[in-house]
Amino acid sequence: MFSDTDTVKLIEDDPGSPCVEAIDQTKLPSELTLVRLYETGAIVDAIKRLVVRGAPAIGVCAALGLYVVARRGYTEGTYRDHMLQDAGSESEVLLGFVRKQGLIISESRPTAVNLSWAIDRMLGVAARLYEDGCSASRILDGMHDEAVTIYHEDIDVCRRIGEYGVGLIRDGFGILTHCNAGRLATVRYGTATAPMYLAAERGMDIRVYCDETRPLLQGARLTAYELSAAGIDTTLLCDNMSASLMKTGTVDAIFVGCDRVAANGDVANKIGTSALAVLAGRYGVPFYVCAPTSTIDLCTPTGEDIVIEQRDGSEVTGLWYEKPMAPEGIGVYNPAFDVTDHSDITAIITENGVIKPGDLNKLNYEDI
Ligand code: MRU
Repeated sequence: MFSDTDTVKLIEDDPGSPCVEAIDQTKLPSELTLVRLYETGAIVDAIKRLVVRGAPAIGVCAALGLYVVARRGYTEGTYRDHMLQDAGSESEVLLGFVRKQGLIISESRPTAVNLSWAIDRMLGVAARLYEDGCSASRILDGMHDEAVTIYHEDIDVCRRIGEYGVGLIRDGFGILTHCNAGRLATVRYGTATAPMYLAAERGMDIRVYCDETRPLLQGARLTAYELSAAGIDTTLLCDNMSASLMKTGTVDAIFVGCDRVAANGDVANKIGTSALAVLAGRYGVPFYVCAPTSTIDLCTPTGEDIVIEQRDGSEVTGLWYEKPMAPEGIGVYNPAFDVTDHSDITAIITENGVIKPGDLNKLNYEDI
């Protein structure tokens, strides 16, 4: 059942040969199917094809995935394959192996910073244990614990974002959201949806409007699916209908997620987010970005420095249609994300509180 299924988790029936299990989001809403990922190629493919997607879920999948690859490589002895015999101690060879696999996984998608954040945490633990003179087996145990910690932190962080976010919602609110920053984009709760789930848990009467989110329809296929499955009053609209909806005064607040927050408070999120933020300003609707601190990237000065993933044009011209819906050979512009200017954002909701986008530097750096 969907409500009992984590978006992504570690399976350790045989501790020497673990795997990552994930909901295949390309099959929703018609089929709830689980896939099992055993090696680097499968993890990279799942992230690239959006089987697992959403910044926090990608981070958790990468952390669990790197542990799975390391443990299986050690059990099967394949971690030595890329090294010459006698290339070093067992732990040194293992460290070289996990660094190489970590780099491959972190290059699967460019925009969500959670991916490199999670891999850096995993590699940091492996390197520290190696430097402390630990055995390969101890390094693997440390990577296991770090991956499981990242998984549990995600649940806790989303719940805390929900606690701060629900304080901005009043009974009777109409809330608009874009793409899927829901439980399918995290382990549970979601980021932008966490305040909605908590509002519903507290018996508040809310209505949620979901942009369908062209071209991959994460709003229609995923957000509308998960919110309606949770019994929340959910209405779907095409992306080009949000101005008309806001004009009627039906939208009291907008909550979205994000893939990377730059140091100046600019935010990269699903394509279409920045248009929504501009419209929100025009119609006087508060625009909230929900961001775990793992999504805040103080090393990226402004939104202009964020690498935006460009995807295949066939997602616009052909996907979902029985016949091509554009002339053959037409040029297509298909960026997966856009950057919302910090001046268009009312506030950023993190697990540590609600802050103005310009005040990111006031956050405790140890929190990030
Ligand atoms: O391309 P996707 O589906 O991975 O894009 C996802 C989004 O843009 C989400 O809003 C973002 O990752 C935040 S998820 C909590």
